[in-house]
Amino acid sequence: MKLQYQLNAAFAALILIVMSISAFYIYSLLMDMLIQDERGQLQERALLLNQVSQEEDTSVRLSQLTELVQDQNYPLLLFDLSEEQVLFSTLPSETAEDWMNRFEDELASQEVWESNGESYVVYPIAFAPHSAQRILVMATPLDDLQIVQNAFAQRMIRVIVIGLLLALAVSYFMTNRLVTPLSRLKQEVKKIEQRKFSEVKPVQSTGEIKEVERSVRHMSEELERYINTQKQFFQNASHELKTPLMSIQGYAEGIRDGIFEGKDAERGLNVMVSETERLKKIVNEMILLAKLDSSEDVYRPSEVNLADLTDQAQDRVYPLANEKGVVLHSRSYHKFTSYVDPERVLQALINIIGNGIRHANTRVDIISNVSKDVLSIKVIDDGPGIPEDLLPQLFQRFIKGKEGETGLGLAISRAIIERSGGTISASNNEEGSGAVFEIRLPKRHPDHK
Ligand SMILES: Nc1ncnc2c1ncn2[C@@H]1O[C@H](COP(=O)(O)OP(=O)(O)O)[C@@H](O)[C@H]1O
Ligand SMILES: [Mg+2]
Repeated sequence: MKLQYQLNAAFAALILIVMSISAFYIYSLLMDMLIQDERGQLQERALLLNQVSQEEDTSVRLSQLTELVQDQNYPLLLFDLSEEQVLFSTLPSETAEDWMNRFEDELASQEVWESNGESYVVYPIAFAPHSAQRILVMATPLDDLQIVQNAFAQRMIRVIVIGLLLALAVSYFMTNRLVTPLSRLKQEVKKIEQRKFSEVKPVQSTGEIKEVERSVRHMSEELERYINTQKQFFQNASHELKTPLMSIQGYAEGIRDGIFEGKDAERGLNVMVSETERLKKIVNEMILLAKLDSSEDVYRPSEVNLADLTDQAQDRVYPLANEKGVVLHSRSYHKFTSYVDPERVLQALINIIGNGIRHANTRVDIISNVSKDVLSIKVIDDGPGIPEDLLPQLFQRFIKGKEGETGLGLAISRAIIERSGGTISASNNEEGSGAVFEIRLPKRHPDHK
């Protein structure tokens, strides 16, 4: 069932319950009120009759009495208790006798008397003060009151029905306001499902729905970005794999067909070997990246001193620096232990320092600082700096500059540093030329997570 119908049904049920309870309550109070009111009237009439009965002139008295009784057709009974005699009655004689007999023992204290299956609201009064034995009983059939009560009930039902319809209209209006953003949101989610990201539009809403709407749009943007990077990755990967393969194929075919001979053939074979090396490197790095992404068992942390790792990294890149004529300057620090995979972190450091050496003119600085529980390692070179157009996506796979190799080094470094709980960032040196890479690693303990 649609949400709006459910809400309306719940609202209508609630209103119906509240109204029915109050109606039932009022209905049951009503009879009491009617009886009290009727008794008041009977009392007035009884007093009037009593007055008339004390009129001196008998003829006036009789005529007035008869007029009162007959014109209005009052159920009325006058009896003498001591003589056990009904003096006057407009009631059926059986009822009159019955009431007179039961008066003293039973009826005197009751407001409603019944006889022969008929109930009456009554008001008994001692008739003529000098004779307490003469009782005048004024009565009204309860049926008359019930007619009033039923008329009231009918009106009440009408009010309830109208009230319910009004409440439903209000409820429909309100739930509509609530549900419309939801169904609009559903349409937007449908668009995301069909990957029409550019068509996703904001939905006017408030409160929690607004929050959900924001999350949905955020999710859509993330998904779009993810799909695009995946696409880019496959395009780049196939391009990177195709280039060496094509050159290998070209030389292989040339040698087979005798186009390259002697020295040329030898050079071709050398190219084939180095391209094969490159292919192997790309494939290995891609596999490593995939493993770092999925939490396969390629990251084995242990308690290590990161100062030792930085020294090791420098030892490992020393031959490269020598070859390039680049000098390494490092400000080492005392001790900083963390729970990381030493092999992987070493690999990340070598990647970054190696990049620095490859791009530097004369020197690379490695500056480490510890503040609070975070170690910062900055690798600064004096080369041309990172091309501005590469900077925003530098750490993505296959992003590389003109003299780049695989374009996977920084992507791998980032994956490793992030798995170690740290961050990595790149910028260009503000004081002149060169690139600055900063790795920040927090202190971690074996029981982290
Ligand atoms: N220290 C640096 N100075 C200038 N450019 C750099 C530096 N480090 C990296 N880059 C740029 O970033 C690109 C990506 O680096 P990386 O992911 O390590 O790939 P690769 O080294 O295989 O080219 C490089 O191709 C280069 O253009
Ligand atoms: Mg590199």
